[in-house]
Amino acid sequence: MLRKLLIGTALASGLAFAAHAEDVKEVQMLHWWTSGGEAAALNVLKGDLAKEGYAWKDVPVAGGGGDAAMTALKAMVAAGNYPTASQMLGYTVLDYAAAGVMGDLTETAKKEGWDKSVPAALQKFSVYDGKWVAAPVNVHSVNWLWINKAVLDKIGGTEPKTFDDFVALLDKAKAAGVIPLALGGQNWQEATMFDSVVLSTGGPEFYKKAFNDLDDESLKSDTMKKSFDNLAKLVTYVDPNFSGRDWNLATAMVIKGDALVQVMGDWAKGEFHAANKTPGTDFLCYRFPGTDGSVIYNSDMFGMFNVPDDRKAAQVALATATLSKSFQSAFNVVKGSVPARTDVPDTDFDACGKKGIADLKAANEGGTLFGSLAQGYGAPPAVANAYKDVVSKFVHGQIKTSDEAVTELVKAIDDAK
Ligand code: BGC
Repeated sequence: MLRKLLIGTALASGLAFAAHAEDVKEVQMLHWWTSGGEAAALNVLKGDLAKEGYAWKDVPVAGGGGDAAMTALKAMVAAGNYPTASQMLGYTVLDYAAAGVMGDLTETAKKEGWDKSVPAALQKFSVYDGKWVAAPVNVHSVNWLWINKAVLDKIGGTEPKTFDDFVALLDKAKAAGVIPLALGGQNWQEATMFDSVVLSTGGPEFYKKAFNDLDDESLKSDTMKKSFDNLAKLVTYVDPNFSGRDWNLATAMVIKGDALVQVMGDWAKGEFHAANKTPGTDFLCYRFPGTDGSVIYNSDMFGMFNVPDDRKAAQVALATATLSKSFQSAFNVVKGSVPARTDVPDTDFDACGKKGIADLKAANEGGTLFGSLAQGYGAPPAVANAYKDVVSKFVHGQIKTSDEAVTELVKAIDDAK
């Protein structure tokens, strides 16, 4: 009764319209999209929102994988200063939702039919307690090789189908005086590559058990030890200046032909795209040898915070734009990822994008779609961080043997659980 009365009074006095007019026409977004390809993709979103009259308040925090961004977000949220939305990966969304700081986009989700168009693997991380708390932007996949075609042709190489083929190919590049493997020596890049090595070494069931189920037997198995052996082998093909290098600089080495190949998520394709390079002509995208048929995925989500009422309209506009079919195509073509909806045509995507879309569909239907442990979709952040730390210590020689690496991994994951 009181509520009705208040609404009645507000309407009568025109206050309801005044309140609406006071909506803040601005989207404040925290993200780590600072490379050339990432910035180009973000511009698609800024442009779409600008058309609807929303200003963009950028909160960029550089650092691939998002560790620095997540530290910045934690400080903002602790201070009660919620952004409209933040780029987030998988389990981090669930952590913030459990802390009770996320908004509720369920009404928008219903209106837009997200339940039907967003794959279940993503809904697991964007819906909490029955409420939509995040808008998935894309699906990335990490088990890819990015190869400079001219260099491959020059050394007389072909697509490596097994790990041994891959090693033979890297040897050829080395013999020709080209840097075989472009790697950035940062823990998240090393662990992202190791995700693929584990899938290739142990196969799909093993990857799932070890890196999604955190099964102890798998984590401490000989197969895990063999995976570390394989990682050690790959690291022998990296140039001496790799420590601390940003991922996009490693991609640039391949684009320029200074290096043959990078093992990286398909955000690397965003860099090729930004450099006007064409798949099949300038570069090649192959699945990491021995992982054909499986997809290790992550998805960028815009986690939606419980912002004040005058900022909610902007948040709904952002969420609606993010999951619109046209944006899903335009953005992901530039970003290197594939749509977070199952009903977006692949028409505008290049050959790698078309393959990414088809692979994702097949893996989803065949039960070979797995969350990336390095990229926040295998286990909660504490476990993922423990994993990245052990892999990096191994790559940089602080952990000396594969045996030791396995022992440290089991211990670190156990402590973090
Ligand atoms: C994100 C990508 C981003 C990459 C490098 C990943 O964690 O999912 O969107 O391009 O980090 O910054």
